[in-house]
Amino acid sequence: MCGIVGYIGEKDATPIILSGLKRLEYRGYDSAGLAVLQDGKIEIRRDAGKLSQLSALVNDQPVHGKVGIGHTRWATHGIPSARNAHPHLGTTGRVVVVHNGIVENFLELREELAVEGVPFNSDTDSEVIVHLIERSMGGGNDLVEGVRLALRNLKGAHGIVVMSADEPDKIVAARIGNAGGVVIGFGEGEMFIASDIPAILEYTRKMIFLESFQMAVITKDSVTVQTLDGKKVESQVHSISWDPVAAEKGEYRHFMQKEIHEQVRSLTDTLAGRVDFEEGRIRLPELNLTPELGQQIKKIIITACGTAAHAGMVGKTMIERIARIPVEVDIASEFRYREPLVDENTVVLAISQSGETADTLAAMEEARQRGAVVWSIVNAIGSQAMRLADGYISMQTGPEIGVASTKAFTAPLVDLYMLAVLLGDLRGTLSADVRKKLVGDLRLIPDLVGRCLDREDDVRQVARVMKDVRNMLYLGRGINMPIAYEGALKLKEISYIHAEAYPAGEMKHGPIALVDRDMPVLAIVPRDPWYEKMISQIEQAKARGGCVLVLATDGDDRAAELADHIFWVPEISWMLSPVLTVIPLQIFAYHIASYRGLDVDQPRNLAKSVTVE
Ligand code: M6R
Repeated sequence: MCGIVGYIGEKDATPIILSGLKRLEYRGYDSAGLAVLQDGKIEIRRDAGKLSQLSALVNDQPVHGKVGIGHTRWATHGIPSARNAHPHLGTTGRVVVVHNGIVENFLELREELAVEGVPFNSDTDSEVIVHLIERSMGGGNDLVEGVRLALRNLKGAHGIVVMSADEPDKIVAARIGNAGGVVIGFGEGEMFIASDIPAILEYTRKMIFLESFQMAVITKDSVTVQTLDGKKVESQVHSISWDPVAAEKGEYRHFMQKEIHEQVRSLTDTLAGRVDFEEGRIRLPELNLTPELGQQIKKIIITACGTAAHAGMVGKTMIERIARIPVEVDIASEFRYREPLVDENTVVLAISQSGETADTLAAMEEARQRGAVVWSIVNAIGSQAMRLADGYISMQTGPEIGVASTKAFTAPLVDLYMLAVLLGDLRGTLSADVRKKLVGDLRLIPDLVGRCLDREDDVRQVARVMKDVRNMLYLGRGINMPIAYEGALKLKEISYIHAEAYPAGEMKHGPIALVDRDMPVLAIVPRDPWYEKMISQIEQAKARGGCVLVLATDGDDRAAELADHIFWVPEISWMLSPVLTVIPLQIFAYHIASYRGLDVDQPRNLAKSVTVE
């Protein structure tokens, strides 16, 4: 979590750092700060709260210079306060650091430094880093050597950016493990550093990504990447195709609303170049899936966290039904410690929007060590989840900024469906007719998603009525059971309403005891193979006085009769129905949170990328 930025060049660093932090605020918003080299001195401005606090402070107490670093914090050690905000300055006042990650051995290091007489000015783990650098520079080492030596003492995963008033021509950045990325962008006579692409996309599309255990020395005209042992490394320069405008809110009130509405475009892009409607075939070249590998796979384990894991649950049904390969879905934080049973005939498929979720990356590493083939479905270009994999599918969603994931849920649903068809094709589980029908159904997706979005106002009106509920129960079955989980997650994370999801068939084994007038039930009942079962579930809830919201296929009078409120979705093949059924639930959660006056894009206690355990 946390966002870090840096600038070195000829322009005023302050506005560039503030605009970078603005785009990284989704990574943490407990405090923010910046340090700029002004007249040979390091000037720091930092404050608790959101970036607007820092901007106001900088307005009151301006600071200007051509080199600077900044930070937006998601607190782990030390409460959110100005004192604990980054950047952290060393005792000499000549070295300053911003940090993303957790110094796992910070207590030990802090004690060691305190015995040496180092005073601490914060309760953070991060502050030890600047003191370690200063200590390492004490013997006449320069900044680069100081950073290198200091990093040897740290346990845990880290991204850091450091500058020194005594070496104003450079910034040093380093990455250890998976605490979030370090991206370096090339300008003309200026260089940019950030945790993530959108922060610097406005200035450059030419970027390199630091790997773990690498550090970079950045001047205004160059970057030198080296390992922590000092060996020079050639980094691949990527040209990023994302549109900078995609990282702006535009006419929408919130990024989440904008991203919900971007799903027609993102799903059109998801299909583009991958689906041959004439032949009824799928192409996913970056997956490196050969016919031999297709035959060899005995099991697929999908691993992910949160919303991405819900997408994986839908993918299980798709792959098992279409390609007839057994699929398990394992939450990454569980998988990594399970001593999982995988071998070279197992594919471990990680799904991640950010490509930097610590648990998901650790699960991929675990799978790799145990000999599995590792694939990923990932959004962030150049992220670790993309680079760690033997093959990947790139989500074509563009940057997702709202903490609540929306367009990065529907894109992997379609990716998983395409993967299922490709695997089925390679393994001969599909007749040509069935394959063509499955592929042909994809053609309808963008239009039908658009029709779901056109009904935003109907959903908003139900949200207005329901905005003060205290609890909700989401029910689904079969391929739409994970959509109940996803709908409930959306509601709880942005509206703080307690929402539980259950496979509807489990109701009679306990949860039905919860149902009364104060526990609205939202039942997902499209026309799919579980339709009849779901209808009887609704009847049982109604019989117990529950208020029932039903999500049904257009024209379903039977469902409408049972519903107190209804959300409609257009008809589609049942296997693709989750791509549509989730949309009213995203809109519903969005409007409830909006009516409650909550901070939709930056809900409390959360951050977009979870780079800590
Ligand atoms: O970046 P990832 O897809 O790996 O993130 C996984 C989860 O942290 C994420 O989906 C989270 O659950 C979202 N806030 C849900 O909206």
